[in-house]
Amino acid sequence: MRFVKARDYRDMSRKAANILSAHIIVKPDCVIGLATGSSPIGAYECLVDWYRKGDLDFSGVTSVNLDEYRGLPHDNDQSYYYFMNKHLFSKVNIDPARTFVPDGMIADADEACRQYDAIVRATGGVDIQLLGLGRNGHIGFNEPDAVFAKGTHCVNLTESTIEANARFFASKSDVPTQAYTMGIQTIMKAKKILLVVNGEDKADAVEKSFFGDVTPLVPASILQLHQDVTIVGDEAAFSKIADRI
Ligand code: GLP
Repeated sequence: MRFVKARDYRDMSRKAANILSAHIIVKPDCVIGLATGSSPIGAYECLVDWYRKGDLDFSGVTSVNLDEYRGLPHDNDQSYYYFMNKHLFSKVNIDPARTFVPDGMIADADEACRQYDAIVRATGGVDIQLLGLGRNGHIGFNEPDAVFAKGTHCVNLTESTIEANARFFASKSDVPTQAYTMGIQTIMKAKKILLVVNGEDKADAVEKSFFGDVTPLVPASILQLHQDVTIVGDEAAFSKIADRI
């Protein structure tokens, strides 16, 4: 694992966007795995900026997102599809037909997950997967559990995740309780992984995930077994591991 120290959120975002854009430049038809949440927003802003300046071309890029709330339609401003459209897809020249987010409106969970696994497989594999980190160590919506889930599956969100995500909704009771998420095996199959993390409230999760036991109780800990992981974090997020990196 490579740890890249950033001064603050802005610095973290620029560094992560630089890594992503290098991939797009070197392999214009790359498949990028994308994430939602507040952590990657700054990186998306940089990518949009560089696209507008003429430095980046998304016309050959395919994207697959990690997860989506079950039951939220595309036009709900809290759906991850809406988020991706707002922060990236509508602002760059990516082909909408090559942007994939799990469909939260497919009521049959097994069918929704089967369809998404087939979509990810059909892309030929993710070249670089961007990840955030949940306060409880979740990645995508893979919550702490007794086992690592393999493929796309439907999860019941934990109380801690519902609380953490309530800030984006009018009230806690509006936060969906379930989501469809790529599984751990799918995430681990990405050739490269780029995780962005910032803020004091993630410091515990950073320590447990990258220096603790590899356990499904801390889903991100599995990344210790991936051969190409880069973690870009700010000082606050790295505060508990500063002397070890
Ligand atoms: C959400 C998302 C994750 C994200 C995490 C952290 O639950 N499903 O993909 O990494 O929370 O979010 P944030 O970056 O806002 O802290």
